[in-house]
Amino acid sequence: MFYQKVIKPILFRCDPETIHHAAMAMLQNRFFASVASLGCSIQDPRLKRTLWGIDFPNPIGLAAGFDKNGLALPIWEKFGFGHAEIGTVTLHGQEGNPRPRIFRIPEAEAIINRMGFPNEGADRIAQRLEGYKNSGMWPRIPVGINIGKSKVTSLEESPNDYLGSFQRLERYADYVAINVSSPNTPGLRSLQTRESLSRILDPIQNANSRRVPILVKIAPDLSWEEIEVILETMEQFQCAGIIATNTTLDKSAVPLKEEGGVSGSPVREKSTRIIRSISQKTIGRLPIIGVGGIQHFEDVQEKLQAGASLVQIYTGFIYQGPQVVRRVLNRLV
Ligand SMILES: Cc1cc2nc3c(=O)[nH]c(=O)nc-3n(C[C@H](O)[C@H](O)[C@H](O)COP(=O)(O)O)c2cc1C
Repeated sequence: MFYQKVIKPILFRCDPETIHHAAMAMLQNRFFASVASLGCSIQDPRLKRTLWGIDFPNPIGLAAGFDKNGLALPIWEKFGFGHAEIGTVTLHGQEGNPRPRIFRIPEAEAIINRMGFPNEGADRIAQRLEGYKNSGMWPRIPVGINIGKSKVTSLEESPNDYLGSFQRLERYADYVAINVSSPNTPGLRSLQTRESLSRILDPIQNANSRRVPILVKIAPDLSWEEIEVILETMEQFQCAGIIATNTTLDKSAVPLKEEGGVSGSPVREKSTRIIRSISQKTIGRLPIIGVGGIQHFEDVQEKLQAGASLVQIYTGFIYQGPQVVRRVLNRLV
């Protein structure tokens, strides 16, 4: 209630990206992070999940895009998250699109963003992750690393770009997510076809000597025929799981028509429908991370019942506040 009544109205008066950067800067301060996350985490053996031989203390993770550079990686477990996915990381550091590029739509509990993968690049982020390992700051929760294509790299050259990021970062990852579904890098979503996806997955799996689980993150705007092709391609290249879904280009449920992808409540149903169809098609054999529109316990339950093994939150964390994970976990227990 304190977040909803006092903190959120203040935060929502400021530019979303300015607030995001300020919050990320403060979360790097251990004292502030500890205070901000006080009472957010709960431990209960009934919440544990094991996937790909990895133990997740609970099924709720932080979705990609919130901590693109891994700046606050050591603290996400304090907010109760059972895993954190950093990125999207690209091989070359880049600025992303011009600001403003994040827009809140409070009446729909939604966001439109057209960030375009601003991040420090694979080398710099690998250095940061190495620093956490060496200084004992590495989190106890599993870490996913989400990789995407650099803007300067052509679609034709994209397999090498993904491979470069994979080679620099795989040693820090419990799983690697191949992002071919963000709407804000021109042409990226066209990499979801059989041929393009094969050209990306083949060299990555050839280089994957540690057998790190490879997941593919898909868009919610694909036809079922397109999803079936992705599932076949993923099976051919022994992918470990799928992340469904990224933001949608469908703006019919929101009053704002800014360019970019919609996240939050308007994407919930679409994402759940896709999760259910994938789960039925693969008879539960392909683990699914369900993401899109989770704000409350019921939304998590819906995704788990549709067949997701784990879920992730982004927009719900902003609208419901840092206590959202604990609230949901309490109800799950
Ligand atoms: C501001 C913003 C930035 C995002 N950046 C990324 C990103 O870099 N990579 C990615 O795979 N997904 C990104 N996403 C998508 C989220 O990870 C998630 O798939 C989507 O927002 C749906 O979940 P939600 O409704 O809980 O937000 C971003 C979402 C938002 C709102």
